[in-house]
Amino acid sequence: MQIVTVKSYDEMSNLASKMIAEQIKSKPDSVLGLATGSSPVGTYEKLIKRHKRDGLDFSCVTTFNLDEYCDLSRKHPQSYYTFMMENLFSHINIPSKNINFPDDNFEKYEKKIKNSGGIDLQLLGVGHNGHIGFNEPDDVFHNKTHKIQLAESTIRANARFFNSMDDVPKTAITMGIGTIMAAKKIILVAGADKASVINELKKETVSPQFPVSILHYHPNCTIIHASSS
Ligand code: GLP
Repeated sequence: MQIVTVKSYDEMSNLASKMIAEQIKSKPDSVLGLATGSSPVGTYEKLIKRHKRDGLDFSCVTTFNLDEYCDLSRKHPQSYYTFMMENLFSHINIPSKNINFPDDNFEKYEKKIKNSGGIDLQLLGVGHNGHIGFNEPDDVFHNKTHKIQLAESTIRANARFFNSMDDVPKTAITMGIGTIMAAKKIILVAGADKASVINELKKETVSPQFPVSILHYHPNCTIIHASSS
């Protein structure tokens, strides 16, 4: 694992978008794994710029999102589908048939990823408790796409997007740790608010109680950390 520290959120987003653009240029039919949350928003803004300004072409790209809430319709303003449409997909030339989100049919999702040739580049954020996707701290690493119960701290953290804590969905579908680890390349973006996560990662201890630590075992993983906002 390589930890690259940059000065600002803007620099972090620029570097992540540059790496993703290079991936797409070197393989126009790249398969990307994508994340939601505030961390990758800047990366998506820069990718949109690269599309509009430099003609970065998404017409052959396929995407698989990491996770989605249960019991929210796609059209709900806080669904991850809506998030991705607003922050990326509706601004680039990706065909809608190439966009994938996990649902109750976990096996189909895993098969679709496999049949697409596997994920070339997975973009990740990280929760304050070390969760990736919605893989919350647990006694074991869950391998494949599965349904989970959100941790209390995650519900609290995500409440800012809803009217109240009660409105935050309590369950979600997420790619598993094995699904994420199977990606050929991983980029994780962590803003200044994730300094404690980065410090914990530097201890190099791998534990399912701190899911992001599994990335120590990935052969091509770059963590981009912004030291200030
Ligand atoms: C949610 C998402 C994660 C994301 C995390 C951190 O829980 N499921 O994929 O990494 O939030 O979000 P943020 O980047 O807003 O801190």
